Amino acid sequence: MTDTIKPLKEQPAWLPLVRHRRVMSELSLRSLFERDPHRFGRFSLEHDGVLLDYSKNRVTGETMELLVDLARQCGLEEQREAMFSGAIVNTSERRAVLHTALRDPAETPLHVEGENVRAEILETARRMATLVGDVRSGAYTGVTGKAITDVVNIGIGGSDLGPRLAIEAMAPWADGPRVHFVANVDGWEMQQVFRSVDPERTLFIVVSKSFGTPETMTNAEQAMAWFARHVSDPEGLKRHFLGVTANTEKVDQLGLDAGRVLPMWDWVGGRYSVWSAVGLSVAMAVGMERFREMLAGAHSMDRHFREAPLAENIPAIMGLLSVWHVTFFGARSHAIVSYTERLARLPAYLQQLIMESNGKSVDREGRPVDWPTVPVIWGQTGTPAQHAFFQALHQGTETVPVDFVGVASAVAEDAGDTALVTANLLAQSQALMQGKSADEARAEMAAAGLPSERIDELATARSCPGGRPSNTLLLKDLTPHRFGMLVAAYEHRTFVEGVIWGINSFDQWGVELGKQLASGLMPALAEDAELPDADSSTRGLIDRARAWRG
Ligand code: F6P
Repeated sequence: MTDTIKPLKEQPAWLPLVRHRRVMSELSLRSLFERDPHRFGRFSLEHDGVLLDYSKNRVTGETMELLVDLARQCGLEEQREAMFSGAIVNTSERRAVLHTALRDPAETPLHVEGENVRAEILETARRMATLVGDVRSGAYTGVTGKAITDVVNIGIGGSDLGPRLAIEAMAPWADGPRVHFVANVDGWEMQQVFRSVDPERTLFIVVSKSFGTPETMTNAEQAMAWFARHVSDPEGLKRHFLGVTANTEKVDQLGLDAGRVLPMWDWVGGRYSVWSAVGLSVAMAVGMERFREMLAGAHSMDRHFREAPLAENIPAIMGLLSVWHVTFFGARSHAIVSYTERLARLPAYLQQLIMESNGKSVDREGRPVDWPTVPVIWGQTGTPAQHAFFQALHQGTETVPVDFVGVASAVAEDAGDTALVTANLLAQSQALMQGKSADEARAEMAAAGLPSERIDELATARSCPGGRPSNTLLLKDLTPHRFGMLVAAYEHRTFVEGVIWGINSFDQWGVELGKQLASGLMPALAEDAELPDADSSTRGLIDRARAWRG
């Protein structure tokens, strides 16, 4: 789909937003709450057990109207419909973007470049369900007839991060084989697996959309060599190694049985693929029913994103607020803090989802952008984050917008102190918003009986500027359904950012250079070939690494 997009700064809403930003930067967040006791009601949205409280952002009704105008002017509604309907939205790779189709229960035809992909999606889901059912029931055994007790997902990036996050988030429902993940090629994860599994009871899933990622292929070969050392049956490899890829013709290079390879497709980006057969290890762990509940949650968020008016649209508002922080207020990073250990991997997952999608500096027509795009995404779970980097969030010189993610009702396995967790979740965003003035700090210390010279000494050190923006996403619970909703919300938030910035959120050309240079250095490091014709740093480091490695 080709569209001539007007650069962001030429959109009619741009200058009014620039002027409005100057006004808003003079207002204190605290005063916005003092002026309007109903602020929470005006600046929060709810859909299907997910509540977005965005009232602690530096926004008024006028701000939101201008941001929604900007979204319309950037063609968000048209681009959204184009994505859902299978148009070529990934313009540089000339591909559709249809991760949403993977969780759409509709059986109506959906055409991508003239081919009805719905049938393939349904067929693959059926094959996945059969395989998962057979492994979990013991009907599918290893080559020596033993039931499968361990599954190893060998993949990296989108072929790893989504499944890892999903399995931890849905751990209370994990009643199947233990799942292990091997992504890095430094051997550590692989050795842990080798130390802890019985090869006769282990199923390896090689997940790679391209089936060419060096780390994954190397890890797969190492696992196969290890397996063959322990299981002599020549049929063993084909029975214990499955594949998930968009490049099915490449699997025989690895010696996999084509009948045990599940497809994925070019119109599903790696970082958007946990809903596909890339999620096979997830389904093995929690069962196909729970996996389908995760899909249904994502579909619920898809419908909300597709149908809700922009001003009442959770992902749209999240994306617009990110643009407000980054492009108008110059925020250079965005923190994600989930108040549940089951979402400990959410920051890592969102780093790929958001930074690989929107870490771009040219627009969809190849023109350099002259506005900031993606911020650095980082984070950790609360409350531990409060004892790690919250000092900087409260008193640092950098304003870092924060997404707080909380869960209202815990499941039995979570049974910690829900009140204490929730109190901390709410208090942190409140503290960032309202801060503490030097006078308030003085009064506190006086009430505690500190001598006046000590109060003078500490007044500014103990004050917090406040006015620091945050969103709170409060989930009714963290079930497979709600987890699917959360991830889909971030996928669409990412899409909204990309449309406003005019960039293609679905390619990743930037990762190619590093891969090319790495393969060029291999001979000097793997075979001690002569030093490459490279910069002196690279040559010097190779030289030292070789000397120390001996
Ligand atoms: O980081 C680049 C990338 O292509 C990601 O987009 C992808 O998720 C990852 O590498 C793994 O790629 P593959 O699934 O093809 O092995």
